[in-house]
Parts: sequence; C-alpha cells; structure tokens
Amino acid sequence: MLYPLARSLLFRLDPETAHDVALRGLRALGPGARLLGAAPEGDGEARTVMGIRFPNAVGLAAGLDKNGEYLGALGALGFGHVEIGTVTPRPQPGNSRPRLFRLERHEALINRFGFNNVGVEQLLRNVEASGYRGVLGINIGKNANTPLERAADDYLACLEAVYARADYVTVNISSPNTRNLRDLQSKERLGELLSALVERRAQVANGARPKPLAVKIAPDLDESQCDAICELALAHGIDALIATNTTLSRVGVEGHPCASEAGGLSGRPVFARSTDVLSALARRLEGRVPLIGVGGILSGADARAKITAGASLVQVYTGFIYRGPSLIAEARRAIAATGA
Ligand SMILES: Cc1cc2nc3c(=O)[nH]c(=O)nc-3n(C[C@H](O)[C@H](O)[C@H](O)COP(=O)(O)O)c2cc1C
Repeated sequence: MLYPLARSLLFRLDPETAHDVALRGLRALGPGARLLGAAPEGDGEARTVMGIRFPNAVGLAAGLDKNGEYLGALGALGFGHVEIGTVTPRPQPGNSRPRLFRLERHEALINRFGFNNVGVEQLLRNVEASGYRGVLGINIGKNANTPLERAADDYLACLEAVYARADYVTVNISSPNTRNLRDLQSKERLGELLSALVERRAQVANGARPKPLAVKIAPDLDESQCDAICELALAHGIDALIATNTTLSRVGVEGHPCASEAGGLSGRPVFARSTDVLSALARRLEGRVPLIGVGGILSGADARAKITAGASLVQVYTGFIYRGPSLIAEARRAIAATGA
C-alpha cells in the first residue's frame, strides 16, 4: 500500500539515486521491513532444489544487493532466497554514470553498471555483519581488467572465498556489461571454466558434499548455444541453470528515448524471450538439471508462467522495482496455487 506512494517519489529521482535511496531506506527498517508485507511460510510453499530447502520459490535476483549490504532488510521481505553479487575478486568502480535508465512505460530498465562492487573480502564481511539466516546465493564474476584468457583465475578465487558462506554459488557468464564476458558461454570456453570450477570445488569440499554451482545464462542464445550449455551442464554435473540475465535486444522498446543506451534490458520486454529460453532448456534437460526462471516477472501470473515453463524457482529484480514488496507475496501465492 505504501509502495505506490514511495515509488512516485523515488521515480522523480535519477534511477541510480532512487535505487540507493530506496535500499538505504529499507536498511534503516532492518527486520522491521517485514511490515511491508512479508507473509509467513504457507503450506506447500517450501521446496528442495539443488539439495537446499527453500522456504518458498521466489528469490531476489543478483545485482540489487551487489555487496551484501542490505541482507537484513531484504531477508525480512518474504523472499525464499536472496542472491547477492555479482562480486569480483578485487573491488572495482564499474562504468561511469549515468549507467541505469528507466523505461517507465515499458516497465523496464537498461543498465550498464559493469560489476561495480566492493570486492569479495568486503562482501563477506558485510554478510557476516548482516546476521542473515536465509538461503544465500553468491553470484561471482571477473574483474574488468582481467583478460578473458585469465577469467578462470577470478572465478576460482571468488569460489574459494565465498564457498564456506554461500548456500549456492552462481557463475555469471552472461552480463553484457563486462567486455567479452558473454564469450565465456561458448562451448570450448565454458567447458574449460566449468571443469576448473568443479575440480576446485571438490578440493575445497574436501570429501564433504559439494555445495551447488549454478550457471547464469543470457537470453540472447540461439538453439545450438542452448544445446551446448545443456550438454556441458550435464557433463560437469552443474546443479542449476539460471535463465536469464538481461538482453541486448531492444525489441518492444523501439522508439523510447533510452532504447539506444548501451547495456542490458530487463523487465517486461525480456519476459517472452527469457521464458522461451527457459522452455527450450526444460525440453532438453527433462528435469535432469533444475532451472531457475528470471526475466520480466511483473505479476503472479508471470511467476506462474515460469514455473509452468519448467522452473523450480523464480527470481525477480526489475518487477520488484516497479511493483515493490507486494510482488513477492503475489508471486508466492500464484506459485502455491499451481501446487508445483
Ligand atoms: C540494475 C541491474 C543490475 C544487475 N546486475 C546484475 C549482476 O550484477 N549480476 C547478475 O547476474 N545479474 C544482474 N542483473 C540481472 C538480473 O539479475 C536479472 O537476471 C535480469 O534483470 C532479468 O530479470 P528482471 O527482468 O526481473 O530484472 C542486473 C539487473 C539490473 C536491472
């Protein structure tokens, strides 16, 4: 109820300032953020995916809390999990501003943040200080100044650093805002990266059950690229695929004054493409690798459509900006009603 008012004030600010103000406001509420509408766990909402028990199917996608600074409040809003990051080994400022654009009539955003983050060591200190006890995903990437040939070093360093604290680790190879990062989705490079990560994970696990590794992919993949990713996920025993990140496409927002800004488009316009990729993965994988559906969820019906397309869990980002915390409860109810 409060959110439409807060939103009308926030949307008068430039998008990145609004983002910071909203998150700081949320942090000030701390666990009191639950007053914004968090519902207790309902019957049948919990599910086990990747060997982890999630209290419900609706999570926060990576990128909203890049540094694990707002976990106390985000954890009180009713999400079944929170994914923080993308984090890189070393702190970096990201691209220069402006780097976030609001396409209000399309319920969309374009961002080219470029992995601005405080670095993995500070992120871990933030997580520790937060006292967060919910399911925690940590999304890892490479520094902008690490050459692509050395990318694996950055992912391995992050994996080792976050391993003890994360419930699952997401390998982000699909941000459009780090030069050439998406090349890591090619069959050869991804195969090398996944075998290095799985090997290092086994070393760190030291005989214990290894923690899940998820891979986050782009919506801008063709059939053969989807095939290759599925093959590799199966071959390397990847625990989940997250579909999808933002898109480079501008279909649906043509003519908007911000449409030509460089960066990844998210929100309503990415829903169809992202859900198509999810369905394509589900057809190929036939339940052998769990899927997490993200991209353009603005309503309960959208969340339900991702589950129907084959997702075991969903995540939201842009919809949360446009709809506020009520989207979480709405998506949870819609998914619970499917009985999935
Ligand atoms: C401003 C912004 C920053 C993002 N940063 C990240 C990031 O650091 N790492 C990541 O894996 N995805 C990032 N994403 C992508 C989202 O996690 C999500 O995959 C994508 O936006 C599609 O979902 P949505 O339509 O619900 O926003 C970002 C998205 C936005 C809008």
